[in-house]
Amino acid sequence: ISRGDFPDGFIFGTASSAYQFEGAVNEGNRGVSIWDTFTRLPGRILDFSNADMAVDQYHRFKNDIELMKDMGMDFYRFSISWSRIFPNGTGEPSAEGINYYNSLIDALLEKGIQPFVTLYHWDLPQMLEDQYEGWLSTQVIKDFEHYAYLCFKSFGDRVKYWVTFNEPHNFALHGYDLGIQAPGRCSILGHFLCRKGKSSTEPYIVAHHILLSHAAAYRTYQQHFKERQGGQIGMALDAIWYEPITDLDEDKDAAGRAMDFSVGWFLDPIFFGKYPLSMEQLVAERLPEITDATSKMLVGSLDFVGINHYTSLYTRNDRTRIRKLVLQDASSDAAVITTPYRKGAVIGERAASRWLHIVPWGIRKMVNYVKNKYGNPPMIITENGMDDSNGPFITLEKTLQDDKRIRFHRDYLSNLSAAIREDNCDVRGYFVWSLLDNWEWNMGYTVRFGLYYVDFNNNLTRIPKASAQWFKNMLRLKRDMSSD
Ligand code: GCO
Repeated sequence: ISRGDFPDGFIFGTASSAYQFEGAVNEGNRGVSIWDTFTRLPGRILDFSNADMAVDQYHRFKNDIELMKDMGMDFYRFSISWSRIFPNGTGEPSAEGINYYNSLIDALLEKGIQPFVTLYHWDLPQMLEDQYEGWLSTQVIKDFEHYAYLCFKSFGDRVKYWVTFNEPHNFALHGYDLGIQAPGRCSILGHFLCRKGKSSTEPYIVAHHILLSHAAAYRTYQQHFKERQGGQIGMALDAIWYEPITDLDEDKDAAGRAMDFSVGWFLDPIFFGKYPLSMEQLVAERLPEITDATSKMLVGSLDFVGINHYTSLYTRNDRTRIRKLVLQDASSDAAVITTPYRKGAVIGERAASRWLHIVPWGIRKMVNYVKNKYGNPPMIITENGMDDSNGPFITLEKTLQDDKRIRFHRDYLSNLSAAIREDNCDVRGYFVWSLLDNWEWNMGYTVRFGLYYVDFNNNLTRIPKASAQWFKNMLRLKRDMSSD
């Protein structure tokens, strides 16, 4: 596989997020975010770490841009930390925060790399959580719009791709149902690590407010900036492919519901102005209402669909519909059971993370699903990648020779190329998660997702893995010279 197997203008990049990369949490006038708070609660993070330092990109971005440049990447996807721009979430913007992102953007452009910017990658200013419970309140909508407006105004002369929200489905479920991510609210009775939420209604309220905030930001952009800046706005959805475990209709329907409760939850309102029928039926009165006025705001508020795709799962109908105590995607509302196993055989080899099985054909099915259901909108793979374990018994040599990761990208990219060439899916770009090993939320530093190794014990030195060299070759090759 090589660059030449993709259409002209297809873009390649690596992806990151502010909290996982920047560090420097007490510098540059940054305000506290809900993740700073969450990592300080006992027992939440596997290795008791936080991202106060992370990979220190705040100070090292020039060096990191060299690494991207060396591989031949076209774009860099990063997120803006809301509390760097508005330390209190709202009010007066911070000049230091704006300056930081100006320097980052300018340094990228100087090296010929285009910025691809996420506005919200999970790090709400703590002040807004304290004032009105953050995403549970409608007040967040105007604060997000205000923040988005300021970002468009400050950076939009140079930034032409915006993602409003990263993985809202994960954020809503992990933050408000399972309680394993910030702000750590949970609706599972008796789960001792959670701040008890009110009921399993909260994820739906949060997602609703995210949708409204997204639409508000999109409309603001169209009204004030689109003409002059000409940028594109999308959302990045965590998109697992749900494969029916059998050919039975009940299992096919179950897989369809699993898609509804993840991707459809956000794309149906934006494309069709309403939540998926299965959600209306199963979530019933706990699902917020989309009024005619809201529906009008939502429909068409998207220029591209961002797809964070890593893995696939088998899916079966759950006839019992009893709320599971096992943590599995809060899938009980959808009445599905998901599993990586079928008749004892695993769907694909596992990466380090339990949830990440390597299933290259899943990406092709995923983009075909979006194509068929939503009329082939422009799509961008905003994340794809795999992790290795980090631990005392794993040698540096083995981590650097990451052949498994090379196979992973080669096989996912081959399937993606086939989806574009043979199935006519309108996919326009591909971002690797991630440039560097980094801080993986509740897994802390126990797993490594980077094309570059980071030495967390020795000055955060970056060392290329074999996969970085592989991307470098792959991106240089045109079709006629390509080889596997
Ligand atoms: C996201 C993801 C990333 C993860 C990556 C690996 O929100 O986009 O959770 O931040 O690090 O998906 O799990």
